[in-house]
Amino acid sequence: MSLPSIRRPQSVSAAREGWHGWDDYAQFYDWESAQTVQRRDVGFWQRLAARIGGPVIELGCGTGRVSLPVARTVEMVVGVDRSSEMLDRARSRLRRSRYGPRVKLVRGDIRALPVLDSGPFRLAMAPYGILQSLLRDRDLRETLCSVAGVLQRGGTFGIDLVPELPTWGEYQRRVSLRARRGSRGGQLTLIESVRQDRDRGITTFDQEFVERKGARRSSHQFSIAFRTLSIRKMRNRLERAGFDIEAVLGDYRGRAWDSRAQAWIILARRR
Ligand SMILES: C[S@@+](CC[C@H](N)C(=O)[O-])C[C@H]1O[C@@H](n2cnc3c(N)ncnc32)[C@H](O)[C@@H]1O
Repeated sequence: MSLPSIRRPQSVSAAREGWHGWDDYAQFYDWESAQTVQRRDVGFWQRLAARIGGPVIELGCGTGRVSLPVARTVEMVVGVDRSSEMLDRARSRLRRSRYGPRVKLVRGDIRALPVLDSGPFRLAMAPYGILQSLLRDRDLRETLCSVAGVLQRGGTFGIDLVPELPTWGEYQRRVSLRARRGSRGGQLTLIESVRQDRDRGITTFDQEFVERKGARRSSHQFSIAFRTLSIRKMRNRLERAGFDIEAVLGDYRGRAWDSRAQAWIILARRR
């Protein structure tokens, strides 16, 4: 009896760094997030920014899904991302909006934020699990230190973590999404495998996007990886980096966190 062969994308071993894979992901990101996260966190970030005021910095702004709506509520948002492909998409989104001029995009690594003219910031936003793209403790330490360096004293650091990643079941090549892309696009299918490294707390998604348009078929494969720390450990890392914890929330409307919460949101204040 032969075991079924397990096809792994060539880039699997390339997900050694949390920023790997995002350039490849960029052309599919908005299509996928429209069907998954949608805009459920956006109002939360808009309300927080309106309460605290700008200037605001977003870590890992990607295609501008959060930065642009936040720019409706404050006059200056700086979005930092390492992926030039994601930033290209953010740029075209900004061009289509009257609030676009309020957003400045900067290519950079959140572990070593560049000195930015618009800072120091009143609010740093880390939406949709961006801190889980830091695969080693050292990466997290450097990022927290870097954020403390660009925030005003008393400034707020808002962090949204994706809680379900460590409990995600492992599977091989499952069709997890299938839909048309836009009116002129083809049929897009996402075939996904999930691996868990429980010792390191790392969840890896091996993704293959297959597009069929008429007789043409194209395939794009890449891997992205995330590391999840418990709320307790994250609080501890923040406190060591010079932040006081202001609140831990369990949803986007402000309910207090508990161990079954569907969202893990930490609001910390720079000492
Ligand atoms: C989950 S996406 C989030 C994008 C956007 N914040 C949103 O909510 O739609 C994560 C983004 O973080 C970026 N990223 C990952 N590691 C990074 C790093 N070390 N420095 C800067 N950007 C990073 C990726 O390029 C990607 O655009």
